[in-house]
Amino acid sequence: MAFRRAAEADKPAILAIAAQIWEGDDYLPDVIDDWLKPGPAQLIVATSGGRVAGLARYVAEFPGFAWLEGLRVDPAYQGQGIAKALTGRMVEMADEAGVEVTALSTYMDNTASQRVSAAFGFERAVGFAYCEGKLDAVKGHARASTRVVEVARDEAAAFIAASRGLAAGAGYLPHSWRFYPFARGPQIALARMERVLGIREGGRLAALLCLGDQTPHGAASRSIDCLEGEPEAVEELARHALTYAREEKYFEAMIPCEEGGAPPSLPALLKVGFEVWNEGKADVIVFERRRQGAR
Ligand SMILES: CC(C)(COP(=O)(O)OP(=O)(O)OC[C@H]1O[C@@H](n2cnc3c(N)ncnc32)[C@H](O)[C@@H]1OP(=O)(O)O)[C@@H](O)C(=O)NCCC(=O)NCCS
Repeated sequence: MAFRRAAEADKPAILAIAAQIWEGDDYLPDVIDDWLKPGPAQLIVATSGGRVAGLARYVAEFPGFAWLEGLRVDPAYQGQGIAKALTGRMVEMADEAGVEVTALSTYMDNTASQRVSAAFGFERAVGFAYCEGKLDAVKGHARASTRVVEVARDEAAAFIAASRGLAAGAGYLPHSWRFYPFARGPQIALARMERVLGIREGGRLAALLCLGDQTPHGAASRSIDCLEGEPEAVEELARHALTYAREEKYFEAMIPCEEGGAPPSLPALLKVGFEVWNEGKADVIVFERRRQGAR
């Protein structure tokens, strides 16, 4: 088994693996060109006898923090410890870089992925409820509001830092299936959002919504992140956000719900045609590994 950074020439082998994952519904084909671009994030392939057997991506965008995603093993090579070896390599990269916290997300029933991460000391940090709005179901609920304004990133950062949702999400700001450690870089997280929209009442921000583009699921989806505030304003913002739908297949939102009572975003999203997979309870789980001695 050898590891190396993926190159353009690996694309066909990577796509051949993706075609066999989740009955061909893997999002990798949508993001692979982006993932192969040179940059600080590294797509690593594991090779066996020169053939690409598996892959995983290491993203170091925030100080002291690394995000792992895209773990895949060719079904022909599964069950031989390749995912563990790849994750071990990622953890080594994080340790070499002095990273304090390494994190990843996975669906609650992905036992294989959870066994792999548990072997390296990853522990559940927090859970979010996945909420999906298929275009056909939500488009009839879209309504542009003249009260919606673009919010300056500094003001948005202060609103999010004090929000109930951030606390309920253990400090993570969701962006589709990726979760940003907000306090480590509020502006890095907000720079990933296509729009930051709000509604003001009496001069203060009554509700905020971040609309994320280039989600981990590629152009086929668009995420509604950090929808929070007063219930009526939240619903108005959600309806407004739906007017940005174009040819996307669906919208997705992760609802922080660890502290019991779901925040107002969940009822608002259900009202505008979104559906949940687990009755609105946490089903997308963020796992963290802390370097020894790190807080
Ligand atoms: C998850 C995945 C990467 C695991 O790859 P792998 O190389 O077969 O995993 P390993 O051989 O390193 O096995 C690691 C552990 O997972 C367990 N495992 C593997 N496949 C499993 C399955 N289908 N169900 C339950 N456990 C499984 C193994 O028993 C082993 O656990 P153990 O050492 O405690 O016994 C692979 O199944 C895959 O590509 N799945 C689809 C994509 C995916 O789910 N990626 C993770 C997204 S977060």
